[in-house]
Amino acid sequence: MLNVVSTKTGGKATMSAKNGSIKLVAGNSNPALAQQVSAALEIPLTKASVRRFADMEIFVEILENVRGSDVFVIQSTSYPANDHLMELLIIIDALRRASARRITAVVPYFGYARQDRKVGSRAPISAKLVANLITHAGADRVMTLDLHAGQIQGFFDIPTDNLYASPVMVRDIREKFDLANVMVVSPDVGGVVRARSLAKRINAPLAIIDKRRERAGESEVMNVIGDVAGFTCILIDDIVDSGGTLVNAADALLANGAKEVYAYLTHGVLSGGATARVANSRLKEMVITDSIQPTDAVRAVKNIRVLPIAPLIAEAISRTAAEESVSSLFD
Ligand code: R5P
Repeated sequence: MLNVVSTKTGGKATMSAKNGSIKLVAGNSNPALAQQVSAALEIPLTKASVRRFADMEIFVEILENVRGSDVFVIQSTSYPANDHLMELLIIIDALRRASARRITAVVPYFGYARQDRKVGSRAPISAKLVANLITHAGADRVMTLDLHAGQIQGFFDIPTDNLYASPVMVRDIREKFDLANVMVVSPDVGGVVRARSLAKRINAPLAIIDKRRERAGESEVMNVIGDVAGFTCILIDDIVDSGGTLVNAADALLANGAKEVYAYLTHGVLSGGATARVANSRLKEMVITDSIQPTDAVRAVKNIRVLPIAPLIAEAISRTAAEESVSSLFD
């Protein structure tokens, strides 16, 4: 059983709610994570049926009384993103109509987050649209993990807690590495804030990879900013999707004299041939969390390791229900 530490007790979390009894409802995106959160909090998952009509419409029935309850719906909007998003919206609607007192959408992986600005004329801002959908469905709060861009919190006009996987990663890094020889690396300029914050926690230096295409039609050049020669490099990023960013970054670091390269990522999207790309890469190890349920194929890859994120999410749920500080989890 997972150990959830409560700030008040210093031991196992004693779940108390100021907003009615606590209920956990799971969508179909990550049942393993929902089960682990349920076990950690010692609260059974609320009986619900989320199924499909013949034409693939989603139908949800909450099979227990939730009137007056403080309900947490656990659902990552991962692949297939649209199905899982729609499931989340319909579950929230069902709970609202069943008179839940407060509904928190717990979305460990927030799909569509990379569409957070207009990338051209007549382009959508889909992350904002998804935030609107969740809000209008009836969520009172949102809890998510390592949002692609922290500003996405501002797309919601309801309280939004953006949790960080960094304490889980830092614990693992401390156990595994001789920190005197570690260099933290951001695989692109956009990820510098995230990588710097982790580097600060382990008191390690920081390098940055600057990807540039000098002329149209020429391939991208990876410039390493910082002297990585002789260091064990740890790449930090929020998402691994195709794996291209990481694999190319690992090659660039090794070409610049790095001793070996590891990577820590929060969300293992791993689309298409990503798993094979990582397996065949020069990355010594890629560590992801289970914010997205890893497939058997992912778990079978020798240089991919999965860190459980359920204890952190369970603790954040416990604190939210008790109206204790969530941010102090990351001090
Ligand atoms: C980009 O801004 C993200 O932080 C990741 O670096 C990106 O999504 C990774 O994608 P891929 O694995 O396809 O290179």
